[in-house]
Amino acid sequence: MSHVLVTGCSSGFGLETAVELAQRDWHVFATMRNLDKRGRLDSFLTRSDKVDVLQLDVTDAASIEHAVKELLAITGGRLEAVVHNAGVSHGAAFEDVPDDEARRVFETNFFGVLALTRAVLPVMREQRSGRIVLISSDSAFYGAPGLSIYTASKWALEGWAESIAYEVEPFGIQVVCVEPGSYRTDIWDSSPRIIPPDSAYRELAEIEEKAVQEQLVARARDPKEVAKVVARALEARQPRFRYPVGPDAKTMATARGIVPRRAQAAVVRRILGIHRWKP
Ligand SMILES: NC(=O)c1ccc[n+]([C@@H]2O[C@H](COP(=O)([O-])OP(=O)(O)OC[C@H]3O[C@@H](n4cnc5c(N)ncnc54)[C@H](OP(=O)(O)O)[C@@H]3O)[C@@H](O)[C@H]2O)c1
Repeated sequence: MSHVLVTGCSSGFGLETAVELAQRDWHVFATMRNLDKRGRLDSFLTRSDKVDVLQLDVTDAASIEHAVKELLAITGGRLEAVVHNAGVSHGAAFEDVPDDEARRVFETNFFGVLALTRAVLPVMREQRSGRIVLISSDSAFYGAPGLSIYTASKWALEGWAESIAYEVEPFGIQVVCVEPGSYRTDIWDSSPRIIPPDSAYRELAEIEEKAVQEQLVARARDPKEVAKVVARALEARQPRFRYPVGPDAKTMATARGIVPRRAQAAVVRRILGIHRWKP
């Protein structure tokens, strides 16, 4: 039985991925930063599922060290795969984002991934095999107003991933980016909307919020789709580097290389309704 560590399993893709992999006979280490939230995951598991729930906050070095140590004690020192899923976002025009909020997003979406990868790579190198799956986003394909920090965190993640893939491949370790479009998870509600009282971007934020609800949230898809793609990426003999998931992500992935930036920007402006914004 292969062992996999998944981060952010209290909800959304993390929870669905833990359930999907357990049903496929993986031994899943479903981690979350707050164990009080494990009830939701527990309610989807059956007695035969091999799932250990561990505390892991990706922004806390001691928590990473403790979780990885506990996992290796249970597996006898093996770890076949890690799914970096934990992530946060917010909605805000760049000028309205306080520096500590920008850092919060990067600490989780980018530096958290680096820290956990550092903790597991020695094990994977030693066993000369391993798979590192990153839950990136179709935000890694194009810029989006109100989402500059989140978008930057996913671009950073993919640039880093594409680079280290060369370094670790000779040790039998593959790196994969899963890039979902819009899916029904908690992230839409839990992401703070930041609009200071004197914001020059209030109208933009309001237009955009309406479009996000009407265009993206209303059309958001079942997160189980993403969990199944993660499983495919983990089980493929030769995984691809990128797996865009859902029609929006697939369209944007294709458009990225062939559609000029000006035409892409026109589509983004129209989808988000901001072509009407005249400050
Ligand atoms: N939903 C979408 O449409 C979409 C599209 C593309 C990409 N994504 C990406 O998918 C990933 C999962 O998000 P989701 O949509 O499933 O949203 P979600 O339901 O809000 O799940 C996010 C998970 O990350 C956890 N988390 C946040 N900060 C953490 C930290 N410091 N340490 C450990 N866990 C932490 C959350 O834990 P708590 O419950 O404690 O907050 C939660 O379990 C993210 O990387 C996100 O960027 C989502």
